[in-house]
Amino acid sequence: MIAIFDSGLGGLSVLAAIARALPRADLAYLADTAHVPYGSKPEGFIRGRVMAIGEHLVNEGCGLLVVACNTATVAAVRALRERFPQLPIVGVEPGVKPAAAASRTKRIAVLATEATAKSERLATLIREHAAGVEVLVEPCPGWATRVEALHADDRGFAAEIAARVEPLLAAGADRLVLGCTHYSFLAPVLAPLAAGRAELVDVADAVARQCLRLAGGAAEGSGRLQLHATAQPERLRVALPALGLGWLAERAHGQPVLARV
Ligand code: DGL
Repeated sequence: MIAIFDSGLGGLSVLAAIARALPRADLAYLADTAHVPYGSKPEGFIRGRVMAIGEHLVNEGCGLLVVACNTATVAAVRALRERFPQLPIVGVEPGVKPAAAASRTKRIAVLATEATAKSERLATLIREHAAGVEVLVEPCPGWATRVEALHADDRGFAAEIAARVEPLLAAGADRLVLGCTHYSFLAPVLAPLAAGRAELVDVADAVARQCLRLAGGAAEGSGRLQLHATAQPERLRVALPALGLGWLAERAHGQPVLARV
């Protein structure tokens, strides 16, 4: 079984890519909805959540663990790998490398949570993979929470997104890196804003390819999906079709369950 987790709904974008790439794998998705958002919380708190959830999913028998959250990866993927050295663990990091490599203007922007934006890990990624490219790091407080509320199409929010992104485009950024898995669900708002000026960079498919390489026996199962949440699990049922992932709901086995982690 492949276990995938996030603070909430954002990791569903990664789950969808994995479900497409590994159609026979048994998948378990856990949303830490009792503690979302992670992005405005201290690193120590996020690390505590990641370790507890990792422990829980290992006890459930996962053969591959996917941290489908940039904020959680930055805070704790190293500690998780130290704690479970035998387990393949895939994290998600902002696509600075592909964006920098593809940029023609040599200016890119990274949209991320506050925690990811100020992290040493992002600074290192930029140093290592974006030499000669100017990287505009833009923290986007509140965006993940708006996605959680399933109100991403709200007119006021669209205006807020435009106000944040327009200066980056005006500055010549030709790649907008979606540095938080929740922001994949904002593509319908971001893509028209960026049209003709910048491309969105989402790493969900690259993460799925990495899972394909590492899955081994975890790739083979009956293709079922189990949904778990630490609060209001029934919202996952509503969220899938609302986020354009109705086809995943069909793969889901039984009702979403409350995870006591
Ligand atoms: N989806 C998460 C990420 O990729 C975090 C959102 C949040 O909980 O703040 O960073």
